[in-house]
Amino acid sequence: MTPDIRPLIAGNWKMNGTRAELDQIKAIADGVKTPLSQQVDTLLCPPITLLYVATALCDDSPLLVGAQDCHHKVCGAHTGDISAEMIADCFGTHVIVGHSERRGDHAETDHLVRAKAEAAHAADLVAIVCVGETLDERDAYQTLDVLKRQIFNSVPADANAQNTVIAYEPVWAIGTGLTPTRGDIEVAHAFMRAELVELMGREGAGVRILYGGSVKPANASEILGIDNVDGVLVGGASLKAEDFLAIYAACEPHVVKAA
Ligand code: 13P
Repeated sequence: MTPDIRPLIAGNWKMNGTRAELDQIKAIADGVKTPLSQQVDTLLCPPITLLYVATALCDDSPLLVGAQDCHHKVCGAHTGDISAEMIADCFGTHVIVGHSERRGDHAETDHLVRAKAEAAHAADLVAIVCVGETLDERDAYQTLDVLKRQIFNSVPADANAQNTVIAYEPVWAIGTGLTPTRGDIEVAHAFMRAELVELMGREGAGVRILYGGSVKPANASEILGIDNVDGVLVGGASLKAEDFLAIYAACEPHVVKAA
C-alpha cells in the first residue's frame, strides 16, 4: 500500500447476479460494518439491473455501489446504453471504464475510455479506469509501454486523486487463477505511479492504483502488502460475500502497519 492513501476494495460482478443474489449484497453490506471501514473503502459494482436495489440495501452501510460501464454521452438515441447521470440517479458513486472485457468485446479504444471517464466526472462519479496488457504483449516485454499508452490516452485532463482510480488488470490474469509475481506487480505499480505523477503532477501521488486479476482470499494479503497497491478490483471472488469479506479483512494488518 501507499502511506496516506485510503485503500479501496472493489468488486466487479460482471454479467452475473439476479435478484436471487441480493442476499449476497446484503451480507456484504452488513459484513463491512466493522471498525476497519473507518480506514478502508469498499465498493460493489453489480449488473445495472441490480444497481438501484443494491444502493437501497446499502443505505445504512459504508459499502458503496457503482456500475461497470457508462456511455460517453449524457443522453440520446443510444439503444441499450446507460449514461453516467443515470448511474448517479440510482445513487451509484463509481463507474468502471475501459475494462479489458469492454475493450475486447466492444472494441473500446483508449480515447473512448477517456470520454467515458469525462462523462463520469461530469456526473460527479468516480471513474475507475482499467489498464493492463494482454499475454502477447507481456511475452513481447511490452507491459510498461502498454500501461504508459493506456494511462496517457485514457485518463482525462480533469482527473484528480478524488475522481479517478486506476485499476491494473493484466488481461491474462483475469479469471485464470494466474497472477503476476510480487516483483512484477511492484514494478508495474511503481511505473504507473511515476506516470501518474508525470501526467498530473503532485496530484498523481495520491491516486489510488488497484490491482485486479484472480484476487482471492488466499492471495489478497500478499498483494495488498505490495508498495503502490492501494486496493484490489475483484471479479469472481466478489460474488460470494464470504470471499469478498475475507479480502476486505486482509487489509487490516496493512492499514495498521501504515498508521
Ligand atoms: P477475476 O477476479 O475473476 O480474475 O476478475 C478480475 C476482474 O476482471 C475484475 O474487474
